[in-house]
Amino acid sequence: MSRSAHPAGPRHADVLAELHPLNPPTDPGAIDPSIWPASVNRVEGVLRIGGRSVTELTAEHGSPVFLLDEDDLRGRARSYAQAFANADVFYAGKAFLCTAVARWIADEGLGLDVCSGGELAVASAAGFPPERIAMHGNNKSSIELRRALEAGVGLIILDSFDEIDRLATLADSLGRQQDVLVRVTVGVEAHTHEFIATAHEDQKFGFSLRGGVAADAVRRVLASPALRLAGLHSHIGSQIFDLDGFQVAAARLVDFAVALRDEHGIEVERLDLGGGLGIAYVAGDDPHSPKEIGERLLDIVARASRAAGLNVPRIAVEPGRAIVGPSTMTVYEIGTVKSIELDGGARRLYVSVDGGMSDNIRTALYDADYTCTLANRTSTAEPVVARVVGKHCESGDIVVRDTWLPADTRPGDLLAIAATGAYCHSMASNYNHVPRPAVVAVQDGVATVIVRRETEDDLLRLDPGSGRQ
Ligand code: LLP
Repeated sequence: MSRSAHPAGPRHADVLAELHPLNPPTDPGAIDPSIWPASVNRVEGVLRIGGRSVTELTAEHGSPVFLLDEDDLRGRARSYAQAFANADVFYAGKAFLCTAVARWIADEGLGLDVCSGGELAVASAAGFPPERIAMHGNNKSSIELRRALEAGVGLIILDSFDEIDRLATLADSLGRQQDVLVRVTVGVEAHTHEFIATAHEDQKFGFSLRGGVAADAVRRVLASPALRLAGLHSHIGSQIFDLDGFQVAAARLVDFAVALRDEHGIEVERLDLGGGLGIAYVAGDDPHSPKEIGERLLDIVARASRAAGLNVPRIAVEPGRAIVGPSTMTVYEIGTVKSIELDGGARRLYVSVDGGMSDNIRTALYDADYTCTLANRTSTAEPVVARVVGKHCESGDIVVRDTWLPADTRPGDLLAIAATGAYCHSMASNYNHVPRPAVVAVQDGVATVIVRRETEDDLLRLDPGSGRQ
C-alpha cells in the first residue's frame, strides 16, 4: 500500500523487491517518531510505551498483543478537532472501535462514523452521543436502519435507491424525520501518491454523478417527507497523501450543489469529504499534518463555493486510520528463525512470530508495508535481509515482507511492528482457530485491557458440538 521507491542496494538487489527501502539501517534499533506511537522509546535496549516496558507488558498480558498509546490517539483526535474547528470530524470506527475508544473520541469532541449495526452497538454501549453519529453502509438492513432511527443517530448516509425507500418508510412509521446525506460517486479514486480523476465507477458505493443518478437520488429524498436532505457525501479512497484528489472531488460536489440549487432552489448545507487521510508506515512516508489538511480542505470548499455563488457548506471529514493507526504497535514473540538460501546464493532470514495474518491481514491483502524492530533488546549483530511471517498454514501469511533484522535474532525475542492501530484488530480473524489478541491501552505507566484476548474456549463456545455452551 505505502510502498516507497528507493534505489536497490548493490548487495541485496537480487533479494529485495525493486520498489522497497533497501538500504540497511544505520541503527536497526532506532525509533522513528514519525512512524511509532508518540511515547515509544528505548531504555537499556527495551522498548517502552506509555511509560511501561514491552517485556513487562507481554509478561502481564501475553503475546501477541496490540499496545495502544492513549495519549497519542487522543492527541491525534484533538488535532483533527482543532484543525476542523468550524467543521465536523467523524472518527471512522471501522479502523478500530471498542467502548474505550468511543469514549475517548466523544471526550475529544469528535463525531463517530459507524457502518454496521455492530459498530452502532459499540457506540451505544459506550454511551456515545447519538446525535454525533453518522451511519454508513451500502447494504444497511431494515433492522440496522430501524436501530439507527431508534437510537437517534444524527445522520444516515444514503447509498442506494432501495435504501432511500426503506428508510423513508421506516422513518415515517416511527413518526420521525431523519437527516440524511446522499453519497455521491464523484469519479475520483485516490491512493497514497496518486489519484485518478476519471476513476471508473464500476464499484458498489454511492450514486454516480454520471447519467444523473445522484440527481435522481436527491429528487427521491426531497420527495420523501420523512427524510431531510442535510447534504452530500463523497469518499475517494484510503491512505492518501496527495490532497489534490480531494480538491477535484470537492469541485465536483460543488458543481452538483449548484445544479441542485438551480433545479430545486435549495442550498446544500453540508459536504462530507469522507476519510482516507494517510499515515507513515515506513521511512519516507510523509503525510500532511491535520492542520495542513484542515486548512487546505476548508479553503478548497470555501473558494469553490464562493466562486459558484453558493453559501459555504459545513465541511465534514471521516478520518479513521489517521487517528488510530499510528497510536498502536503489535508485539509478537519470535518462535522460529530460519535462514533460507535463495537462487543466486543470497539469503533471507525467515522470522516466525506467534500471530500473523489473523491479526494483520493487510500485508497479505494489500501488500502493505510495515516497520519493525526487536523490542526486548538491541543488537550489534550485522543487519540481514529478513521477512517476518506468521504461524498460519499459508505461505502468504506475511507480516513484514522485506525488512532488516539483526543476524542474531532468535526465538524468544520480542518483535514490535509499528502503526498497526488501524484495520488490524478490526479485520482480525480466527483463521486456524487462532484466538484474537488483546488490545491494551497504556498511559502514564498504567496499562488497561480495552479488548480482552480471545481464548480457545471463546471459540469452542461457538461450536454447538464442543459441549462448551
Ligand atoms: N469514510 C468512509 C465512507 C469510508 O469508507 C472509510 C474507509 C473511511 C471513512 C475511513 O477511511 P480511513 O481514514 O481510515 O482511510 N481496510 C483498508 C481500508 C479500507 C477503508 C474503507 N473505508 C486498509 O486496511 O487499508
